[in-house]
Amino acid sequence: MEPIRIGIIGHGFMGHEHEKMLSNFSGIRLMGFADKDPSQLEDVLPGLKRYQSNEELIHDPEVDVVLIAANNNQHHDLVIQAANAGKNVICEKPVAMSLQQLDEMEEACHQNHVRFTVHHQRRFDPDFRTARAVYDSKTLGNMYTIKSSLYGFNGNMHDWHVYKSEGGGMLYDWGVHLLDQILWMLPGVKLKTVFADIRNVINFEVDDYFKILMRFENGVTAEVELGTYYLADKVQDKWFERHWFIGGNQGTAYVDGFFPEGKIVRTSHLLQNVSGQRTMTAAGPTRSFGPAPEGTILTEPLPQVNTCHENYFENYVRAYHGEEDFLVQISETRRVLRLMDAVRESGRTGKSVDFE
Ligand SMILES: NC(=O)c1ccc[n+]([C@@H]2O[C@H](COP(=O)([O-])OP(=O)(O)OC[C@H]3O[C@@H](n4cnc5c(N)ncnc54)[C@H](O)[C@@H]3O)[C@@H](O)[C@H]2O)c1
Repeated sequence: MEPIRIGIIGHGFMGHEHEKMLSNFSGIRLMGFADKDPSQLEDVLPGLKRYQSNEELIHDPEVDVVLIAANNNQHHDLVIQAANAGKNVICEKPVAMSLQQLDEMEEACHQNHVRFTVHHQRRFDPDFRTARAVYDSKTLGNMYTIKSSLYGFNGNMHDWHVYKSEGGGMLYDWGVHLLDQILWMLPGVKLKTVFADIRNVINFEVDDYFKILMRFENGVTAEVELGTYYLADKVQDKWFERHWFIGGNQGTAYVDGFFPEGKIVRTSHLLQNVSGQRTMTAAGPTRSFGPAPEGTILTEPLPQVNTCHENYFENYVRAYHGEEDFLVQISETRRVLRLMDAVRESGRTGKSVDFE
């Protein structure tokens, strides 16, 4: 089968990541880059084209697919331009800045009979896949809570991400991944209500903190919390923390880090209504929060997952050739955008929002 020929608009951070992955990828031939800032093209790898303009790339007959890796506020126009030129499109996340934009982009792709999907490669993150494997295994009994959190310890928000007009803010940046993961973890389960706190802790225009509570029809409450200003003087190379916690009535699981460490933890029997034992702890004397009786805490390893971001483009190649569906459906990205609207509404009003 002929390789799929991809041209990329935007040779910034993500453009470089795509270049690294796709310049030698089975089933794909990377053609080259366009960027509105010519200096960004100076280090394009030898052998790849440096287009003079987006139009030149979009109209190159040797390009089958245009991948949009430009700032968030550019996605709408660039996707429509590429679709109108008859090109298939992969768009970086967040697919659009609003539902209306997404409707227009999808309509242009539909009218021009081109394929349209979104780069949500974090569906293949090892920490997420591990948490999802625990959830899917039902080994924790009736699950009631899932917590997904990401904290940055240095207060960094970079470049255009601090400007609203560019599509900045953490909800558009990481929030879209974290919410997509939760919705994809509970496929087909209605999300009934959403409550959110969303703030600009130190940034003037854009959100840099959010806590989002989602109550699903199956009784699970998912919590997603992200903060960029969780200042801590951590060891040299550790400037963030990523955690998952899943709770059920037959055990809990903790999953820490992107390449996760953690365990499934159970008790040998339910330690309910046991005779109170007074233990002195740092918090003072306690009965509930002292050590468990010897031998009652049992642990099991987390499930092993085999996953990496290359899997995203492996699916793309198979789906492009009609062998399976695209992993990321536009209807799913629309649901995430709707959820982000509900998050903003709840943040604004301080009330929970009915969702589905
Ligand atoms: N999937 C992921 O994990 C992930 C990670 C980082 C960024 N992203 C997404 O990738 C996109 C780019 O982010 P980034 O961090 O690479 O930004 P960046 O600022 O590093 O790079 C963006 C590049 O696009 C160029 N550009 C902007 N508007 C353009 C236009 N109209 N035409 C041509 N070039 C244009 C800029 O000159 C710049 O070189 C964003 O949508 C972002 O959300 C995704």
